[in-house]
Amino acid sequence: MNNQIEFNIDENNNKIYLITTSVGEDALSMIRISWHCVEKGSYLLIKKDGEGYIKVLPTEDYWSVEESYVDSSYQNKRYVCRVNLSNLYPNCIYKYKIICGNYCSKEYSFKTGSLLELKFMAFADFQYSENETTINLVNLFANANPDINLIMCSGDIADEGYKEEAHRFIFDKDLFKDKVLAFGCGDHEYWGSIKSPIKMFCRPFAYNKLFNNPKNGCESCLNSSFYFKYNKILFIFLDCGDSNIDANNPIFNDQALWMDEVLSNERGYEFIIVSMHKSLYGDIKQDSNVRKFAPTFIEVFDKYKVDLVISGHDHEYSRTKPLVSSIVNEYGTVYLDLGSSGDKRRPTGDSIKNSLLYDKYIDIFMNNYSLGVIGMINSNKMSLTIRNQYYDIVDYVEIKRKKRN
Ligand SMILES: [Fe+2]
Repeated sequence: MNNQIEFNIDENNNKIYLITTSVGEDALSMIRISWHCVEKGSYLLIKKDGEGYIKVLPTEDYWSVEESYVDSSYQNKRYVCRVNLSNLYPNCIYKYKIICGNYCSKEYSFKTGSLLELKFMAFADFQYSENETTINLVNLFANANPDINLIMCSGDIADEGYKEEAHRFIFDKDLFKDKVLAFGCGDHEYWGSIKSPIKMFCRPFAYNKLFNNPKNGCESCLNSSFYFKYNKILFIFLDCGDSNIDANNPIFNDQALWMDEVLSNERGYEFIIVSMHKSLYGDIKQDSNVRKFAPTFIEVFDKYKVDLVISGHDHEYSRTKPLVSSIVNEYGTVYLDLGSSGDKRRPTGDSIKNSLLYDKYIDIFMNNYSLGVIGMINSNKMSLTIRNQYYDIVDYVEIKRKKRN
């Protein structure tokens, strides 16, 4: 279809921009695509590698963040377009492009999940993202691991969630053009302005228009909380709210109840991984509020023997021993505070240095490290290799499969 039509390629994303490929509820057969377009009527052409294109019409949502929050520096109105693909073949490459009038986007691609071993990359806090640190780090990891298709991020993608240039700096480059994303929501995704006093959106509006995440999350945090399955591995993404959120805000209890329901229904998983922005065992002096809502989530993690929680937020690196109710227990949950995958770093705090709960901490401020994780999971164990921006290994841990009811 449309093979005969000559399109002008929208090289500089003037017409079609912020194209993202997000994971579907089942990573083996579902993908969710989102793009922003200056005109109504754009559509997707998609093909399985080696076959012909199929046209898919998106839902179109006319939107500007100005309607959510008044800020004269913000962007023009646009059409936010979303396509949900299902019944895809596992372990297959699909290629797609977006058409807008006589223009088409560059060709994007993704590979669906496979029945074999899962490999993924995970990052935290790109945050000061309008420089090359994040770009170089992600490119280094991606070039060294061309077989890894799934990329996770635990939030704070941009320093100011309202600022479209920061998102376009990352997503209008070719950085994630061939990857499947599972990007969580950080507190900076709530930032509505950096003008003093700093104002927060009541919801992460720009984030929610950037990622077409599975809509299976908690009702009060739809799209910014979600879960997906990858074979016998369950991934859960939580939303920890804005930078000033009160620890008694209902989103914590709402999500704990939602997560409890998901985990009680979704049995038989070999591994359970949670991605959340704020670190429940991060440095207490950076965000003392986190310790107040932490028990709400920890109770559920302990009940269902969650294997790993990946987070960031405080820009320090630490990895706990396996914990149950904040006590070391070989059947407990490992909390990995990845700290920073950009260039905002802090020295390791005394609350971490003086505690016996941690297996490892690294002063990323002293070392000038930006970090990422390569995860590998087979039916018996998960291995996590943490590397810096020189691709040196700075930490490594294995988590054995637990017995679950
Ligand atoms: Fe944060």
